[in-house]
Formats: sequence, structure tokens, C-alpha cells
Amino acid sequence: MVLSRWAVAIGGLLHAAVLTSADRAQSLAHSKILTRGEDVQEQYDYIVVGGGTAGLTVADRLTEKGKYSVLVIEFGVFQNSSSVTTVSYGFFGLIDPALNFNITSVPQTGLNGRTVDVIVGKMLGGSSGHNGLQVHRGQKADYDRWGSYFGRRSQWSWDGLLPYFKKAWHFHPPSPELARANNIKYDARYWGTSSNIHASFPTYAFPFLKTEIAAFGEIPGVQFPPDSGAGLPGAFWYPTSADPGPMLRSFSRTGHWDGVAQTRSNYHTVTGQKVLKVLFKNKRATGVTFVPANATSGKYARSVKAKKEVILAAGTIHTPQILQGSGVGPAKLLREAKIDVVVDLPGVGTNFQDHPFQVGALFNLTKFTAHPDPNDLFLNQTFLAEAQAEYNANRTGPLSIASGNAASFLPLRVISPTAFSQIADKCEAQDPAAYLPPGTDKTVVDGYAAQIRAHARDLRGAGSAVYNLFVRGTYNEGSAIYLHPLSRGIIKINSADPYFAEPIIDYRALSNPADADILVEFTRFTRRFFLDTSLSNYGPVELWPGANVTSPADIITALRSFMIPSSFHPVGTAPMMPRKLGGVVDEDLLVYGVSGLSVVDASIMPDLPGAYTQQTVYAIAEKAADLIKARA
Ligand SMILES: Cc1cc2nc3c(=O)[nH]c(=O)nc-3n(C[C@H](O)[C@H](O)[C@H](O)COP(=O)(O)OP(=O)(O)OC[C@H]3O[C@@H](n4cnc5c(N)ncnc54)[C@H](O)[C@@H]3O)c2cc1C
Ligand SMILES: *[C@@H]1O[C@H](CO)[C@@H](O)[C@H](O)[C@H]1NC(C)=O
Ligand SMILES: *[C@@H]1O[C@H](CO)[C@@H](O)[C@H](O)[C@H]1NC(C)=O
Ligand SMILES: *[C@@H]1O[C@H](CO)[C@@H](O)[C@H](O)[C@H]1NC(C)=O
Ligand SMILES: *[C@@H]1O[C@H](CO)[C@@H](O)[C@H](O)[C@H]1NC(C)=O
Ligand SMILES: *[C@@H]1O[C@H](CO)[C@@H](O)[C@H](O)[C@H]1NC(C)=O
Ligand SMILES: *[C@@H]1O[C@H](CO)[C@@H](O)[C@H](O)[C@H]1NC(C)=O
Ligand SMILES: *[C@@H]1O[C@H](CO)[C@@H](O)[C@H](O)[C@H]1NC(C)=O
Repeated sequence: MVLSRWAVAIGGLLHAAVLTSADRAQSLAHSKILTRGEDVQEQYDYIVVGGGTAGLTVADRLTEKGKYSVLVIEFGVFQNSSSVTTVSYGFFGLIDPALNFNITSVPQTGLNGRTVDVIVGKMLGGSSGHNGLQVHRGQKADYDRWGSYFGRRSQWSWDGLLPYFKKAWHFHPPSPELARANNIKYDARYWGTSSNIHASFPTYAFPFLKTEIAAFGEIPGVQFPPDSGAGLPGAFWYPTSADPGPMLRSFSRTGHWDGVAQTRSNYHTVTGQKVLKVLFKNKRATGVTFVPANATSGKYARSVKAKKEVILAAGTIHTPQILQGSGVGPAKLLREAKIDVVVDLPGVGTNFQDHPFQVGALFNLTKFTAHPDPNDLFLNQTFLAEAQAEYNANRTGPLSIASGNAASFLPLRVISPTAFSQIADKCEAQDPAAYLPPGTDKTVVDGYAAQIRAHARDLRGAGSAVYNLFVRGTYNEGSAIYLHPLSRGIIKINSADPYFAEPIIDYRALSNPADADILVEFTRFTRRFFLDTSLSNYGPVELWPGANVTSPADIITALRSFMIPSSFHPVGTAPMMPRKLGGVVDEDLLVYGVSGLSVVDASIMPDLPGAYTQQTVYAIAEKAADLIKARA
């Protein structure tokens, strides 16, 4: 249900022809994959838990000089089907059970008791192997806010991260013809060219996209930044994570493992294995215990030792499960699950955030005539056949477009010049404890209070985007995304079965009432975008929530029945915050209260960037590798 709604919104219309035309060959000629637990050595310098986006990036960097031995332990297996490699739409993988964990959230009180499918990748390459390929960077304000939790001198800032954004990506500018025809602004100085993770543009754009992007410019205050990576809000074109040569998905496995792990004797990978817990001796992490991924008991458990460090990269959903299962987490929860407490770290699993989706209004342009448009790939078999032939012959054309290349990222003061300051005042007057679960530890409450204050400051400013609307060049548009929700969710081990059951996931959607206030403005703004700009010439008709839904109370009622609290961008469950603010890792990404244990994945983000998360995850992982090498 949720998935089909995403599919319609994103690209809509999954055109099966592309899927079936691709290869089924699953090359398994990777001599360094150890598919059996017993092939693993007794000891390595580093153990990386989770061979996903961050994990493979870090493992590549740690092994490149040949100095250290590294073992990556990945739950999923090597996957190279067309649902992974295909660029077009970029969203086949999220409906492929072979590539996904099977997790459902608890019923959401704020969403009329609805549950949500929790989508995260399960394969060598993790979520980068089936994400939507959209590549954008948050605003300067986001990364400066992260550092602000530690004070002025923090290296976690826009300036501190920019070198890692450059290192993480190999930028390919759009062709001059595409750039000229569509007014695409870009500035290669915000990018590098040395990484094997590619950011490139499609070779074709549907003609109406240009009209839609220009319409944003009719809204007072909307800027057109010099590049998608300039750290500024506004409307812009951005690249996709595609390798422009073969025009296939570029992701952590292709960029940091294929052809790399095979030639380095110090880089071992074991797949189809699940890490249960980190082992400690006198609070020092000494290794991990793992089992075959399909195990339902610890009968076949094995252990492997880490001489220097255990590096957690299992993602925002599973990293807190592993920490809690290892005795690192809220003591009360661990006792309920009969797990020995190694360190009482109340922040583990708290501070869970994702980007709520479908929070604006959906429109249909009933007088649209600008064909071809993306729906033709589905509705017009001639057009699809031509696109397929062009892709096969030249790797160009409509099938080089992933799930999106152009969007607006707008501050609250731009979408609501009348209400933004009042909303910020209201946030500042809040008692944050009232919006966290009863009994939440004081350090976690204090960290939440610090985040609300920082967000209130950013809500007043012009540098931080809260509203995102991506457009595709077609008639059915409008799915907005909320970039900085104030509600905080929680992830806990299932105390009845901490190791083999999936963790319990609660988004706590709309638990902070300021979110509803902000989302009312989203609906109003989305209407202005379609009705008060030149898009009004195309006969916009509101499909959802409906033009008659106008009062804040009615808009909120509609949101509760419709919004999805996730855009597949979970972060924050092992936050990099001071320990007295509920932090789990410090600025060196080391877990508080123990030694030899770090976290390098999306879970360390204290709060969401005003962008989708993959570009930031790669940059964090590049920085993490340098931090780890510096202390080796
Ligand atoms: C469907 C989808 C669409 C997305 N679209 C976009 C987009 O268009 N643009 C964008 O910027 N971002 C997008 N994202 C988000 C982005 O891909 C993620 O933020 C990012 O990949 C997360 O990286 P990670 O390293 O934290 O986790 P992951 O890449 O998910 O890696 C975690 C790895 O750990 C493994 N693992 C888990 N538990 C264990 C265990 N116990 N033992 C061993 N291994 C384990 C998992 O199998 C996985 O491989 C999307 C995500 C999804 C899922
Ligand atoms: C994965 O599939 C693509 C597309 O079919 C192919 O070009 C590539 O060589 C494959 N990669 C591996 C490592 O097998
Ligand atoms: C997912 O889990 C549910 C129950 O938890 C089960 O009924 C369903 O078959 C599972 N789906 C897959 C694809 O494994
Ligand atoms: C797990 O997979 C292995 C290898 O395919 C198989 O031999 C074993 O029976 C499976 N175990 C369970 C519990 O399903
Ligand atoms: C949406 O607009 C398209 C194109 O203008 C039109 O063909 C279609 O019938 C409309 N659909 C709805 C539900 O209004
Ligand atoms: C379908 O696509 C073909 C090829 O691009 C085009 O010539 C034709 O006009 C399209 N048909 C419709 C109904 O839009
Ligand atoms: C491939 O590109 C060449 C050169 O631009 C062009 O002549 C040819 O028509 C293209 N092939 C297809 C199938 O589009
Ligand atoms: C809006 O109109 C729809 C369709 O007529 C109706 O079902 C809905 O209850 C109305 N909502 C409000 C808030 O008036």
C-alpha cells in the first residue's frame, strides 16, 4: 500500500519492460567473498559491521594502502540484478523482497494507528544499492548546526565537511546542450573527480521540467543557487548517482568494492552473515559474534577478533539494535531484555528521524500538452520502445533519467512569510520533555531541547530549507517532503527476542505539535505554487486533500490519514552529540563509555540535513576513515 503510493508519486508508473530486458547474470566471480563463516580469519585489525553505503566506503579507505587488514560482515549478499543496476526511475529495488529487510513499524498514534513499511537495503552495498539515485547536499546551516552542539571549534561544520563532499564524489557536468536548453546552473568547484562514486546528469530532460522550475522563480524569495552542492536553499538541478559511461547505478559496491576487494589480500568480505553483538573485555571492544543471516538461534554463532577497532555501519535501524544487544544502551531497556549492561547510554535508539513524505497537496494539470512526459514511458509503448533502443545503442535518452533531477528546497520564511516567526516563537516556548516518551532520560531531553532551539533559530533564517518539492516534468505532481521534522521517534530491541526479531520501530509521527503547524503551511504553499504561478495556465486541479479542505484542523486531519513518516532517510539513533545531551558517539565517532568501538553510518547524524541523505552519508564515511586512520 505504502509502496505503491511511493511508486506512483515518484515515478510513477513502473514500466516493466525495462525490468525484464535486463540481464539476470549474477556474477559471483568474487574470490574474496567468504560465504561461509568458517573461512573468516581469527583476527583482523578492523571489523566493519554492515557492508552498506558507509561500511564499504570506510573499508575501501582503510585497506587502500595495504597497511591494515579489514573484515566486512554483511547481512545481505552480492546482488547485481537489474533492480540494482538500472538507472531509469531508480526505484525497482525497493519493491524487491530479495533486497529488503522485512520490517513494519508499530501503529502510529499520530496517523490514526496506521503502520509503515520500514525500507532499508539488505545487500552488499546496502541502501545505496536500491535508493532513488538523487544526489543532493544539505545546506551550510545543517552542518554548522551539527557542530554547534559541541561548540564553536567543532570540525563538524560546512567548512569542515566540504573537503569530504569533494572527496566522496566524482562529478560529471551536464552536457552543454542539456545545460543550455534547461538553464542548468552548476559549479564544479563544489565537487571532486577522484572518487569512484559518480554523480552525473541524464542526457535528456522532459520538456515541461524547465517550466516547472521556472515557476518556482515566480515565488518571492526563491533563489537559484550556483550549484546543487553550494549549501544554499532554492530551486536547482542536481545529479544522480549514475556512472555516465555504462549509464548504470553507481553505489558503494561498484565504487568501493568491485575490482578493489578482489585485488587486496587485506580486504575480506563475508556475506549472508548477521552480527549479533560486539564483544567487550574491560569495556574495550575486542570483536563480534555473528551467525548465518537465516539463523533463528545462536547455535552456529562464531566470533572474530578486532585488534584495533570494531566499526559499526549497519545503518540507522540496525546499529542501535546491535549496540543495545551488546549491552550499550538504556540500562532499563537492557535489563528488561536480560542483557548485561556494559554501559548505560540512554541515547541509543532515541532521536530517530526521517523525512515525512506526502505532506503538501497533490495536483493534476488537466490542460497539460507538453508531451513527451514521463508517463509516456508507461502509457506509450512506441515511445518506450524508442527510448529502450536509444538506451541500448547509446546509453542516452529518457532511460538515463533516474527518479528526479530538479527540485526546490525552501526555507519556512519563503513558503510562509506570514507565519514563520510565530511558529519559531512557539517552538522556543515549548517544554520539549512533553513530546518525548514518559520517563525519557534527562540527557536525552536536554539534547532534544538543544535541537529544538537550534531548529527554531534556523526556522527564522533564510539559510535552511524545510520544504522540498521535486518535479518531474509531468501533469501529476505535488508530493512534498518535510526536511526538518521536530518529532522524534525511537528504536528498541524486542525484549522478548533481542537478537533474532527485528527491533521495534516507532516514528512517533506528529508527536510534536509544531510539526502540524508547519505542515499546514506546506499545504497552503503547494496550492500557491500551482494556482498562483504560470502553472495555473495548465488547469491545476487539486487531487488531495481537496480544495474544500482549508482550515488548519481539516488539513491536519487529512495529513493524519495520508502522510507517510518516511522518505527512506532514517537517521539519528546513535547521535553525535555531547554525552550530557544524550549523545552516543563523540566528534571522533567513538562510542561513549567504551573503547575500540565507533559508528560511521547515517545513525550518527544528530538531525536531518535539508536534503536526501546519501551524499552526506558518503561524506561522513570519508571523514570517519580519516578519523580512524589518525588514531590507528
Ligand atoms: C528505497 C530508498 C530510496 C532512497 N533514495 C535516496 C535518494 O534518492 N537520494 C538520497 O540521497 N538518499 C536516498 N536514500 C537514502 C540513502 O540511500 C541512505 O541514507 C544511505 O544509503 C544509508 O547508508 P548507511 O550506510 O547508513 O546504511 P545502509 O547503506 O543501509 O547499510 C547498512 C548495511 O548494514 C547491513 N546490516 C544490517 N544489520 C546487520 C547485521 N546485524 N549484521 C551485518 N550487517 C547488517 C545491511 O544489510 C546494509 O547493507 C534512499 C534509501 C532507500 C532505502
Ligand atoms: C553488474 O551488472 C552490470 C549490468 O549488467 C554489468 O555491466 C556488471 O559487469 C555487473 N557487475 C559485476 C561485478 O558482476
Ligand atoms: C514479512 O514478515 C511477515 C510477518 O512478520 C510475513 O508474514 C511475510 O511473509 C514476510 N515477507 C517476506 C517477503 O518475507
Ligand atoms: C540457512 O541456509 C543454509 C544454507 O542455504 C541452510 O543449509 C540452512 O538449513 C538454513 N537454516 C535455516 C534455519 O533456515
Ligand atoms: C490529469 O491530467 C491529464 C493530462 O492533462 C488528464 O489526461 C487526466 O485525465 C487528468 N486526470 C485526473 C484524475 O484529473
Ligand atoms: C507515442 O510516442 C511516439 C514516439 O515518440 C509519438 O510519435 C506519438 O505521437 C506518441 N503517441 C501519443 C498518443 O502521444
Ligand atoms: C545513437 O547515436 C547515434 C549518433 O548520435 C545516432 O545516429 C543513432 O541514431 C543513435 N541510436 C539510437 C537507437 O538512438
Ligand atoms: C471535501 O469534499 C469531499 C468530497 O466531496 C468530502 O468527502 C469531504 O468530506 C470534504 N471535506 C471537507 C473538510 O469539507
